[in-house]
Amino acid sequence: MDDVAVITGGAGGIGYALAQRLAARGDRVVLADLHAGRAEEAAARLGAGHLGLALDVTDETAVAAVVERVENEVGPIGFWASNAGVATAPGLGSDAEWQLAFGVHVMAHVYAARTALPRMAARGRGHFLVTASAAGLLTEMDVAAYATTKHGSVAIAEWLAIRYGDSGVGFSCLCPQGVRTAMLADAPADSSTLAAGSLISPEEVADATLAAIAEGRFLILPHPQVAAYAQHRATDPDRWLTGMRRAWRKLHPSA
Ligand SMILES: NC(=O)c1ccc[n+]([C@@H]2O[C@H](COP(=O)([O-])OP(=O)(O)OC[C@H]3O[C@@H](n4cnc5c(N)ncnc54)[C@H](O)[C@@H]3O)[C@@H](O)[C@H]2O)c1
Repeated sequence: MDDVAVITGGAGGIGYALAQRLAARGDRVVLADLHAGRAEEAAARLGAGHLGLALDVTDETAVAAVVERVENEVGPIGFWASNAGVATAPGLGSDAEWQLAFGVHVMAHVYAARTALPRMAARGRGHFLVTASAAGLLTEMDVAAYATTKHGSVAIAEWLAIRYGDSGVGFSCLCPQGVRTAMLADAPADSSTLAAGSLISPEEVADATLAAIAEGRFLILPHPQVAAYAQHRATDPDRWLTGMRRAWRKLHPSA
């Protein structure tokens, strides 16, 4: 099959690790990232036949143009990894930060679903991956906009899986805890993500993702303990919140 994999936010981190695995097994990969130069360099590192291009996933017209270009010039899209993400400032944040987080973590998936997904569904094959976060199943105590909009990422991934899951397209939602990427590079020492422990590599996340997709699983938890935390949160939310408040006070004793 000559299908092409498109990975948004693929110039580094989890997206690039995924691209490396896909390229190694012979897939053609398009890395679509905010930073054209970084996307092109990353694609060149993957080897001949891969493409890096500029894309702001919060711009629906730009997403549609990338879908059109890839389908016309490279090949049919068989895998769309809606993976771009942003870390906004700690706390409640400004309206601009909420808008950015909502654009990247929610609307970007909607735009991909409006543009790439119908073509995949019409062909009756392919896979649509949303990179959410464990923050979307539990929370992230530092950044309200990140925690809230990642819940939105999980919600839209579930909605798409229900509404398009019988089309022949597969759906997955990737929910890691801490991963050693640029996103965590500047995290402060008292970051709740660092405190949660067990940082893993983007390559481990890529392997877990491809294994789950091969098994046809929707929810991808590269940190398996997240399943137990989510169960605890669902069955006893008050106790869970008490535990989270205790964890927050421990990290910020003078706050
Ligand atoms: N690193 C972690 O601990 C962690 C944990 C859970 C989930 N995630 C999620 O994994 C995904 C990948 O992040 P990462 O950890 O590899 O970090 P990263 O910073 O290496 O990658 C994120 C990429 O998204 C790109 N991007 C940001 N805004 C964009 C936009 N508007 N349009 C196109 N591209 C844009 C960035 O340029 C960057 O290349 C994100 O969705 C992130 O929220 C990361």
